[in-house]
Amino acid sequence: MVSVDEVRKAQRAEGTATIMAIGTTNPPNVYDQSSYPDTYFRMTNTEHLTEVKYKMQRMCDKTMIKKRHTYTTEEVMKENPNIKSYKAPSLDTRQDMAATLIPKLGKEAATKAIEEWGQPKSKITHLICCSTMGPFMPGYDYQIVQLLGLDLSINRVMLYQQGCNGGGTILRIAKDLAENNKGARVLIVCTEITLVGFHCPTETDVDVLVSHSLFADGSAALIVGADPILGVEKPIFELVSTAPTLVPNSPGAICGSIREHGLTIHIGKEVPDLISNHIEKRLIEVFHPLGITDWNSIFWAAHPGGPAILDQVEAKLGLKPEKLRATRHVLAEYGNMSSVTVLFVLDEVRKKSTEDGLKTTGDGLEWGVLFGFGPGLTIETLVLHSVNVA
Ligand SMILES: CC(C)(COP(=O)(O)OP(=O)(O)OC[C@H]1O[C@@H](n2cnc3c(N)ncnc32)[C@H](O)[C@@H]1OP(=O)(O)O)[C@@H](O)C(=O)NCCC(=O)NCCS
Repeated sequence: MVSVDEVRKAQRAEGTATIMAIGTTNPPNVYDQSSYPDTYFRMTNTEHLTEVKYKMQRMCDKTMIKKRHTYTTEEVMKENPNIKSYKAPSLDTRQDMAATLIPKLGKEAATKAIEEWGQPKSKITHLICCSTMGPFMPGYDYQIVQLLGLDLSINRVMLYQQGCNGGGTILRIAKDLAENNKGARVLIVCTEITLVGFHCPTETDVDVLVSHSLFADGSAALIVGADPILGVEKPIFELVSTAPTLVPNSPGAICGSIREHGLTIHIGKEVPDLISNHIEKRLIEVFHPLGITDWNSIFWAAHPGGPAILDQVEAKLGLKPEKLRATRHVLAEYGNMSSVTVLFVLDEVRKKSTEDGLKTTGDGLEWGVLFGFGPGLTIETLVLHSVNVA
């Protein structure tokens, strides 16, 4: 007679969850960051707010962002004037657009990931989708199943309203699914579009200026599974351990709410302090079992948030500038794409490692860390293990 424990053991994978493909994409429309205040105040007919515009220019200049992709264009504003009118009821319009744009962008990223993986779609057993924007029933995981022609009995998980920690959260869940279900191949799709939270500037709402200086649209998709088939599937990073936490007493530091006039976001000035004061404790906890105490000896994939966070983390931990190179590169080239951003950073780390002829996918190093920061204040921490570059 076979015991329950034996049955359960046989259902589990033997190896560690491994990323085997990464696909990324953005909408075609791109704005130059230095002239974005001109575009933004023109498209919202608020050019008379000159002081507010100067303030936003000062913010944009400090973001270290060069360009951002978005579906939020001047044409969209002309066609949908309720979106650019301050606090005008406009959720229906925003949701209608999100219903098409989120799955469309997600499909593009997923197609690229599946192409890199090189395996038939029928081998995908699980699907996890994530978006801070546009909750629907069924969620956009439903449309991804339809658009990609996935098995209707695929195991689906839909994550809405995660915020910027979402990239770390989705990987944490993918790891559990991949390791607890033998043969599981998990398709992750993370997509963000800022249209749902676009607002016109006013003299009193500084939150709008902060979010409109930082956020952008994008999508990333990954394939995760344990026990990659040798010679068929190509490992990129192993997801060794995960450790989410909430920073105590900080629910209002980053928060958002869906109102009749769309998604509103608040990012407090205390966020860089809160993150940089708590990050070393996280590193000590997750790297203690590995005996690692030198944070310059590992590779880094952090959600950028904004440059003030990166500067303070760097200073607090005594990080060498190259540790946050990939994070700063993604922030500069794409802006803060919320949950999607850290997945772009992973892609950048592995691509640059190969380009530079390094011996592993993790900047030539063996161990690495991934951080996601978001509402709560949530810190997602994942320990990564690189693989040798073939
Ligand atoms: C926004 C940011 C790029 C501005 O850069 P900075 O180096 O702080 O520059 P400054 O201190 O000169 O700030 C520029 C202006 O933005 C304002 N500002 C900065 N952060 C702000 C915030 N969170 N809320 C409201 N205003 C803010 C400053 O008061 C200043 O206004 P002023 O020019 O009228 O005095 C930077 O603060 C940052 O990266 N913040 C972190 C963003 C964040 O928490 N992201 C997390 C999302 S996951």
